[in-house]
Amino acid sequence: MSRPDAMEYRRVIGRFPTGVTVVTTCDADGQPWGLTASSLTSVSLEPLYLLVCIGKGSRSHDVVVAGEHFAVNVLAADSVDLSVRFALVDPSDRFDEVRYRTEATGSPVLQRAAAWLDCRVAQLHDAGDHTIVVGEVLGCDADPAVEPLVYLAGAYRSLVPA
Ligand SMILES: Cc1cc2nc3c(=O)[nH]c(=O)nc-3n(C[C@H](O)[C@H](O)[C@H](O)COP(=O)(O)O)c2cc1C
Repeated sequence: MSRPDAMEYRRVIGRFPTGVTVVTTCDADGQPWGLTASSLTSVSLEPLYLLVCIGKGSRSHDVVVAGEHFAVNVLAADSVDLSVRFALVDPSDRFDEVRYRTEATGSPVLQRAAAWLDCRVAQLHDAGDHTIVVGEVLGCDADPAVEPLVYLAGAYRSLVPA
């Protein structure tokens, strides 16, 4: 059997539904950075660890890896615009007209987030063309009334029937 190529792998792994997050941090000058990421995984309860995988080719990569903290903003079903913005708009313009506050670590938390987790960078693991960033959760909250955005097979979905 021949090994699958990247396109085949993406087609198959894309059948695994995920939520959509915006991973945020700020650089040494205090400027906010953020990128759309669906690779969020809960890792550990003692201590409270989660992970996100950040592509080494992304402009946000070095800022997240060099930083001491980041936040994970879980997007709501009505926030496809934020997902597209934080994936496609130039990084320096992504926060234009986006309301956010600064959480305890200094990371930006989006006002429209359905849930947020404020993290300290605990571990970095080299993993192919991505870096696995393990964060220790120092603060978090969620609005249970807000439906999350779902991503499946390259398309945005909602758990709420149209
Ligand atoms: C739904 C969705 C999920 C994504 N998940 C990830 C992810 O987990 N990790 C990642 O590095 N990029 C992910 N991306 C791609 C980044 O958001 C995109 O490459 C972004 O432009 C970051 O690169 P930049 O900082 O150079 O702009 C995702 C994009 C979308 C639309």
